[in-house]
Amino acid sequence: MHSDNSKTIGGISRDRIAQLRETEGAVFRKARPKSQAKVGNGLPGFFGGVPMHWMNDWPTPFPILVDSARGATITDIDGNKLDDFCLGDTGSMFGHSPPPVARAIRRQAGRGLTYMLPSEDALAIGPLLQQRFGLRFWQIATTATDANRFALRVARAITGREKILVFNGCYHGSVDETMVRLIDGKPINRPGLAGEFRDLTRTAKVIEFNDVAALEAALKARDVACVIAEPVLTNSCMVLADAGYHEALRKLTREAGTLLLIDETHTISTGPGGYTRKYGLEPDLFVLGKPIAGGVPASVWGMSEEVASRYADYNRTKEPGYSGMGTTLSANPLQFAAMRATLEEVMTQENYDRMDHLARRLDAGLTGVIDRYRLPWHVSRVGARVEFICAPGPLRNGAEAEGAHAPELEAAIHVALVNRGVLIAPFHNMMLISPATSGAQVNRLITAFGSVAAKLAA
Ligand SMILES: Cc1ncc(COP(=O)(O)O)c(C=O)c1O
Repeated sequence: MHSDNSKTIGGISRDRIAQLRETEGAVFRKARPKSQAKVGNGLPGFFGGVPMHWMNDWPTPFPILVDSARGATITDIDGNKLDDFCLGDTGSMFGHSPPPVARAIRRQAGRGLTYMLPSEDALAIGPLLQQRFGLRFWQIATTATDANRFALRVARAITGREKILVFNGCYHGSVDETMVRLIDGKPINRPGLAGEFRDLTRTAKVIEFNDVAALEAALKARDVACVIAEPVLTNSCMVLADAGYHEALRKLTREAGTLLLIDETHTISTGPGGYTRKYGLEPDLFVLGKPIAGGVPASVWGMSEEVASRYADYNRTKEPGYSGMGTTLSANPLQFAAMRATLEEVMTQENYDRMDHLARRLDAGLTGVIDRYRLPWHVSRVGARVEFICAPGPLRNGAEAEGAHAPELEAAIHVALVNRGVLIAPFHNMMLISPATSGAQVNRLITAFGSVAAKLAA
């Protein structure tokens, strides 16, 4: 994708990229004197100068110190307002503090925050999850990472198989067993893992997305408990499924006695029932975290009737003792209150229609800019989730997505967009439309992108 020829990245000269990064970095600092004084040298007391290391992954000279966020706007302590298309990398996909969720939190705030017992909101949530996503039985956890870990445990328990299968370029949270990659066709532990001494490829197979023959070959030995998949790879550059791929995935997993776990944490951008409902997927296990409680940490994982019945049988016969699943603060009344409000009042068809409409406009606007400046880039979209990729497309798998990454170029663009009032996700060029996002905000993003593209292509 990107030429190894060291002179250009994504069709842009390295010199021009470096120049843009430098001038935009200076503009960023100048607009934030108070922030620079407070966090220019890191936040006191925190390792690496930040409370969570991902906060150092933003390409800005120092993290944006947030004063408040409302709807799809973030305001920093210097009074700069940003149109927020990152939305907490999906945690706030329905906008910051959606009013029904804020009301539910206020209502619950004086009634206890955690008691390891259900509240009446929980009575509503089980049926809401059943109706919306189609799976019969549900559990609540606090992060999508945990929900995936627990669902994978169930899969291994009931199949009696040790192995799982993932797609190259995947991310399902910090789930140890999924941290594998294909490098030159060879499975290895994901580069950069801290403190991981196990050979994870012993229990995880990894193949490329959209490769039916590789899937068939990997499942043939009937030793894979579960395939864990995002319906669209969203954690490298965005890779859409080929026509017929999901049908093949479902057919081949069934034939091999392998369960299928669909992780909708990002693809919930597709519609109120996720990609699963829109495209009629039939997962055995289902995971959704991040925005499910409107920004309050919570996740859900669901089991089909058959999986649940096999798991109940398994539990009847397994030796007594701790299952290795569950965390103390999970399924607390604050989560119930926020999740119920999100499901009933925020994740509505009406809101999704609006999000989809604006996402189409964004897709077309960005594509128009790319065409105007004849950049070798493209735009990919799954519902309200849009991404521009600084390489030609479409991409078909994780290896291609990896090759399409252009970190230096992307970093310069990100800072330049911030200086034009727009925040996009730090890891790649992801932009989310929330129900609170306005047409004017989308127009501003397209204009800002056009102005940055003009500078790069000049
Ligand atoms: C598809 C998918 N699943 C799971 C996760 C993990 O979410 P969390 O970090 O909230 O546990 C992520 C995080 O980016 C994700 O993209």
